[in-house]
Amino acid sequence: MPGFEIFGEEERKEVQDVLQTGVLFRYGFDAARNGHWKARSFEEELARRLGAAHCHLCSSGTAALSIALAACGIGAGDEVIVPPFTFVATFEAILAAGAIPVFADIDETLCLDPEALAARLTPRTKAVMVVHMCGAMARIDAIQSFCDQKGLTLIEDTCQSVGATFHGKALGTFGRMGCYSFDPVKTITCGEGGAVVTDDPQCYELAHAFADHGHDHIGADRGAEDHPILGANYRISELNAAVGLAQLRKLDGILETQRRNKTAIKSAMQVFDQVRFRELPDAAGDSATFLSFMLPDEDRARRTVAALNEAGVDGCFYWYANNWHYLSQWHHLKQMKTAARLPIQTYENQPDFAKVNLPQSDAVMARTICMQIKLSWNEAQLQERISKIEQVLRNL
Ligand SMILES: Cc1ncc(COP(=O)(O)O)c(C=O)c1O
Repeated sequence: MPGFEIFGEEERKEVQDVLQTGVLFRYGFDAARNGHWKARSFEEELARRLGAAHCHLCSSGTAALSIALAACGIGAGDEVIVPPFTFVATFEAILAAGAIPVFADIDETLCLDPEALAARLTPRTKAVMVVHMCGAMARIDAIQSFCDQKGLTLIEDTCQSVGATFHGKALGTFGRMGCYSFDPVKTITCGEGGAVVTDDPQCYELAHAFADHGHDHIGADRGAEDHPILGANYRISELNAAVGLAQLRKLDGILETQRRNKTAIKSAMQVFDQVRFRELPDAAGDSATFLSFMLPDEDRARRTVAALNEAGVDGCFYWYANNWHYLSQWHHLKQMKTAARLPIQTYENQPDFAKVNLPQSDAVMARTICMQIKLSWNEAQLQERISKIEQVLRNL
């Protein structure tokens, strides 16, 4: 994902502001920082951009997930329903919280299938962590109403989909908390960074305190602050926040370019009968970071992705065989290879992840290819790419 493609004067200026003050810490040092509050400004601008009441910027998307779980009161022994197509951080954060990830099927949205949730409920289910994969939305309305009916907390892992919307409302603002990543390969980047958003003032208070050792952030003397809860250090530095601030201001332009490039490629591919596109519950809200499509079967998908790579169409991902994004390759999880004993390994009801069987998800993932959409293609490069894709699909 492409924020890094457009680093320019704007990012340099924001970073320079911070270096000139020498204040790399996001809190305090009011006099020395010469009016520059990069993390705070980012939070205000992101909250406004997304239509959320509160935002807290933190050190990574993984940190954001941990913060959201803690702030929503999800911890030891609680079960959290998650999809098997995501980045490992989703279940890592759940395990780190002492909670238990419970995998439910995805559908052709490439996200959790709302119809698959009920079968995963147990008396210990506390939350659903929906993941809006590859730039676009789950059936968030159906998932939200399921959570409301069952009294479950909905947390959105929106790490891959900042700027995407569902019927005009930002992804990440449907659940009790939404989480974002600004790592180096996200739509916009801080270098490393993440954020949580929420409309719930209590969740927000817990979130910023948890992310900074429990500090309540009241008053001007950090040493005299109270610590209402135990926490951790998931703070972001002003340098990272400065890069992100410049990037955030470019988000609308990034989305516009991605959507234009994606439309051109998708229109060209539409004539091929064997190609079926990812289901988008609201196509207008797609951030267009990826063009995801399905072939009729695994064999054709594998042949197509190989042919695309061979033809020089870069950035085509076959996640079914990828070590990081699909359950079938998560051997470390299946064998519970941990550096040190995790809380879950002490539970009587410890699940055996090696036995998780999700044939519906396998059937979707085995046929799916995701093509990255770049910002930096000029018209000639875009057209060249399209003709290579057409050639590959013609010879399928
Ligand atoms: C779906 C998803 N969740 C969480 C993360 C973690 O974000 P970070 O790399 O900022 O920790 C990522 C990053 O790739 C992701 O794709």
